[in-house]
This record gives sequence, structure tokens and C-alpha cells, in this order.
Amino acid sequence: MSEEKNKKKILVVNGPNLNLLGLREPGIYGSTTLSEGMKALEKRFPKINFAFFQSNIEGELVDAIQDFGFASDGIVLNAGAYTHTSVAIHDAIKAIRTPVVEVHLSNIYSRETFRHTSLITSACIGIIGGFGMDSYRLAVEALLNR
Ligand code: DQA
Repeated sequence: MSEEKNKKKILVVNGPNLNLLGLREPGIYGSTTLSEGMKALEKRFPKINFAFFQSNIEGELVDAIQDFGFASDGIVLNAGAYTHTSVAIHDAIKAIRTPVVEVHLSNIYSRETFRHTSLITSACIGIIGGFGMDSYRLAVEALLNR
């Protein structure tokens, strides 16, 4: 078997407005762009076969979770604002076999009260937030340490 085939597969899913990282409220989300952050992950974990997906559309996030949910070793999910509203994303996470880690750049519990509710945490194996782009690295570590 080729080395590529033996590599663990992890999907990193980013939801609405995360395509604007770097420009978007840098005081909260930092100045690193999404593609810089994702490249840094690939560099940090050269043995992982990463797939990256970003969409502003809820149903496309559901599709990505379904598509990789039986064919990957883990999913790192920043659902953005859909975290606080999406029963569909909660249900997609419950429907698949792959473990999902919820991530946030910011600490949602130290922000506005409407961000204090996550509809997806109970479907995920864990949640990491408040560490900027490092939240993604910590989520990957958590998946690898299982
Ligand atoms: C976020 C937090 C959400 O409340 C917000 O809607 C986002 C980003 C974060 O990464 O901190 O879009 O998920």
C-alpha cells in the first residue's frame, strides 16, 4: 500500500464568514487568513491527509459532513454562526460515524449571550475555542490522541 493510503484523513470544515478571516474583525479573529491558517495546519501535521471545505451555505456544510462522515478519520468543524442556530448541522453530525470536534477561534462564552448556546456541542466529541488559529491545531491533536 502506498504511504498516502495509510495517512489519516481529516476534514476541516469552516462555515459562514470564515472566508473573510484576516479582514474580518481582526481584534477578535486575528490577522491570519483562512488559507494561511489551513496551510499552517498542513505544515504542522505532514502525516495527515487534510481536506478543507468552506461555505457560507448551511446545506453545503451538511453535504460536506455527510460526504466525509463515513470516509475520514475525523472532522474539525467551525460552523461559525450556524453553531448557534443549526439543527441540520447537529443532525448531520449525529448521522455520521466520524468523530467531530467543534472549534472556535474566539471564546464564545466570553462574548454576546446569543453566542453562549451551541446547538452542535452535544453532537461532537468535544469543543475547543478561544485560542485563535491554534484552536484548529488543538482539535487535530485531540483527534490524533484518541
Ligand atoms: C466563531 C464564533 C461564532 O459565534 C461566529 O459567528 C463566527 C466565528 C469563532 O470561530 O470564534 O463566525 O465560530
